[in-house]
Amino acid sequence: MTRPTVPPSPDSDVLISAERIRAKIGELAAQIDRDYAGADLVLLCILRGGVVFLADLMRALAVPHTVDFMAVSSYGKGARKSSGQVQITFDLRTSIEGRDVLVVEDIIDSGRTLASVLDLLRARRPRSLEVCVLLDKVERREVEIPLRYRGFVIPDRYVFGYGLDIDEYCRNLPHIAALKGEGSETK
Ligand code: PRP
Repeated sequence: MTRPTVPPSPDSDVLISAERIRAKIGELAAQIDRDYAGADLVLLCILRGGVVFLADLMRALAVPHTVDFMAVSSYGKGARKSSGQVQITFDLRTSIEGRDVLVVEDIIDSGRTLASVLDLLRARRPRSLEVCVLLDKVERREVEIPLRYRGFVIPDRYVFGYGLDIDEYCRNLPHIAALKGEGSETK
């Protein structure tokens, strides 16, 4: 079997250290604990990049909550024209009707994925629907999305680590890295 060739350590900068991520998650969790006291909270993670963030965020929360997962097809990144709404490729196991849904995402770029996911979720009539995103590549936004919780605004560089991949690898890095050099722009 031929393995894909992936540089074991691509030339990169540490954009956000593990310590800064940990501190930010503490702040976000404190806000969420306050805002969702007494709520029927479900954390909804969009696979795959969001899993590391979810795993740390949920353990920092004191407020009772459940978790569920959803995967969606890509709308065709890089294409000039959107292929329209994303499709669900792996659906939630639980009903969100009447519940307080907080979508947990690793990164928002154009905003198209989240816009589409929020449309799909709204149709299921949750009591509330908000977004918690770790990284916001704000200068790339094409669709405005209200972000209730946001970790870091980042520049338009290719980022990976802490759940985000580079050719599907490096999701295990404890920090957010950014590729060095030419072509490091865009995700
Ligand atoms: C990333 C991220 C978001 C999306 C954001 O997923 O997790 O879902 O891109 O981009 P957008 O704002 O331009 O829509 P990706 O497609 O890389 O899949 P992955 O999470 O499985 O790595």
